[in-house]
Amino acid sequence: MRHWPLLDLRLTTPRLELRLPTLDDLDRLADRAVEGIHDPEFMPFLSSWTDAPAEELPGRLIRSQLAALANWTPENWRCYFMIVHEGQVVGTQCLRATDFAVTREVGSGSWLGRAHHGKGIGTEMRAAVLHLAFAGLGAESAISSALSGNEASHAVSRKLGYRPDGHDIVAVRGRRVVDHHFRLLREDFVSPVPVEIHGLDACRADFGVG
Ligand SMILES: CC(C)(COP(=O)(O)OP(=O)(O)OC[C@H]1O[C@@H](n2cnc3c(N)ncnc32)[C@H](O)[C@@H]1OP(=O)(O)O)[C@@H](O)C(=O)NCCC(=O)NCCS
Repeated sequence: MRHWPLLDLRLTTPRLELRLPTLDDLDRLADRAVEGIHDPEFMPFLSSWTDAPAEELPGRLIRSQLAALANWTPENWRCYFMIVHEGQVVGTQCLRATDFAVTREVGSGSWLGRAHHGKGIGTEMRAAVLHLAFAGLGAESAISSALSGNEASHAVSRKLGYRPDGHDIVAVRGRRVVDHHFRLLREDFVSPVPVEIHGLDACRADFGVG
């Protein structure tokens, strides 16, 4: 987009394209949410957003994605990439930061449609945004959290070099749950896949880095 080049930022890995969403992408992402993201018995999300009534879930998801773009500032951004695999939108990977110019620390969050779990896509997409953070934007550290029992998310963090960094006790679905924190330092990150960044120079200022 001529007047907001951020929307043209793309990352590519051997199997994936990560891009900012078009409205059509969001429609397809909502299909994945409706099909199911996780075992209904286990809630991996702090906000329990997937417990929304089925008829409300797609609209809420699309509005929250649009809100992230609408509320974007260089001091506080949430960059939701669409994960495109074999021509299909299969999930989303978020990279976010507050006051990144000063903190040089990013956070992340992600999900895939259930049919796409367990094929290494989660690791590949997290590696892609970490490469953007460390190599592209000059981050010093990255944090991640996962609820107790979310073995896949814990495994992805471990594989990419994050170290345990404490925990919180949180309420999820009215139950006491441990939320585990992890931190990855720049020098500990080696991407398991090659990642290419396309179109970053035109939108560095959006991330708070000149
Ligand atoms: C978390 C998520 C994005 C990971 O994506 P993915 O493509 O399934 O992850 P990968 O295939 O790259 O890696 C998963 C790893 O977890 C491991 N794993 C999965 N379930 C496991 C279990 N029950 N016990 C132990 N390890 C497990 C896999 O063996 C794999 O590790 P390996 O490659 O060393 O074998 C995906 O599972 C998902 O969308 N989950 C639901 C939403 C969610 O939890 N989001 C994160 C909230 S913090």
